[in-house]
Amino acid sequence: MISKRAQNVPASPIRRLVPYADAAKAKGIHVYHLNIGQPDIKTPKQWHEYIQKFKTEVVAYTHSQGIKPLREKFAEYYHKWNINVEPDEIMVTNGGSEAILFALGVVCDPGDEVIVIEPFYANYAGFAAYLNVKLVPVTAKPENGYRMPTMDDFEKVISPKTKAILFSNPSNPTGVVYTKEELEIIANIAKKFNLVVISDEVYREFTFDNTKAISMFEFEELRENNLIIVDSLSKRYSACGARIGTFVTKNKDFYAAALKLAQARLCPPEITQYGAIGLLNTDEEYMKNAMNEYRLRRDVAYDEISKIPGIIAHKPQGAFYLSAKLPVDDSEEFIKWMLSEFNVDGKTTMVAPLSGFYATKGLGKSEIRIAYVLESEKLKDAINIMAKAIEAYNNR
Ligand SMILES: Cc1ncc(COP(=O)(O)O)c(C=O)c1O
Repeated sequence: MISKRAQNVPASPIRRLVPYADAAKAKGIHVYHLNIGQPDIKTPKQWHEYIQKFKTEVVAYTHSQGIKPLREKFAEYYHKWNINVEPDEIMVTNGGSEAILFALGVVCDPGDEVIVIEPFYANYAGFAAYLNVKLVPVTAKPENGYRMPTMDDFEKVISPKTKAILFSNPSNPTGVVYTKEELEIIANIAKKFNLVVISDEVYREFTFDNTKAISMFEFEELRENNLIIVDSLSKRYSACGARIGTFVTKNKDFYAAALKLAQARLCPPEITQYGAIGLLNTDEEYMKNAMNEYRLRRDVAYDEISKIPGIIAHKPQGAFYLSAKLPVDDSEEFIKWMLSEFNVDGKTTMVAPLSGFYATKGLGKSEIRIAYVLESEKLKDAINIMAKAIEAYNNR
């Protein structure tokens, strides 16, 4: 009864082990959730102000590309980041998620190939499977700090069916922020083989240690025709439930094609579009404070995890994730065990197994992703519990 398409969509590795966490909670165990990128930072007050001001007799459909005042506000925001796009080159989407779906849907036919840098944001695999698009991985290795693969690595996987390169910078799940030279590899490949770059920049503002997330918009050779930027307000303003993202392109054909997809789903919710204007009016202080908090957590997460004997981890420079190779044979089995069999004073920890962030079968088997979305003391406790769990797991 179930289509092959639906059967082929993988379950999210971030949510797949939730039943184990639920079972632990049912036994009265406190579970530290480091498995999902749900920030605990307060949403800016401007969100609530705009939502409260929203009074209307009829809650109506909006334009499919999103309300104009919001697209104008986004254009203003992007200009500040030297992404010089106009409101008509911005489409408001139901989260960055829908922008990814639109981008793949506009660029690819069934059977086409898209290059991804693995480990990659796991939902790319879900969307690709939904559209019958094949993700072709180029591997970034934990031993190399998950840095950008070489030009050669990319060239090796190009086929007549390759249509695009999809990647996130700063990277979910590795926290790597690519340098200009690394991004040049992507730009050069795209130019040489006339590929579209789908640049997922939802963590643009999450960078530490004086690194800067360079937008692919800076590459003039891509900008006009070969670039789609995916963006989202979810993480930036701790507003994951607002479901507001954008699909940004200067390529008029891509925009027109995406608009047809957007028309089929009518529009994003009207009220959250107004709330999103409030989010884009947030003062700089909010962002500064949030980044200070995330920097502190990044330091705590990295310091604590580095103490685990036999671990391979590199200090992440962006987003709010850290990927690491653990001294266990199978991280998914380990996480299940940690949730079902292990606790310290009634507390245990949940992280995400990294194998689901790879397209190559068998890779990432000992790796995990931590989302450092808890305040420092809890984070420290959660990682210490995991360290003890590793020791107990390997001695059992
Ligand atoms: C790299 C990346 N892109 C896109 C998304 C989608 O975000 P949303 O649909 O909430 O805007 C996420 C969410 O975790 C992400 O990490």
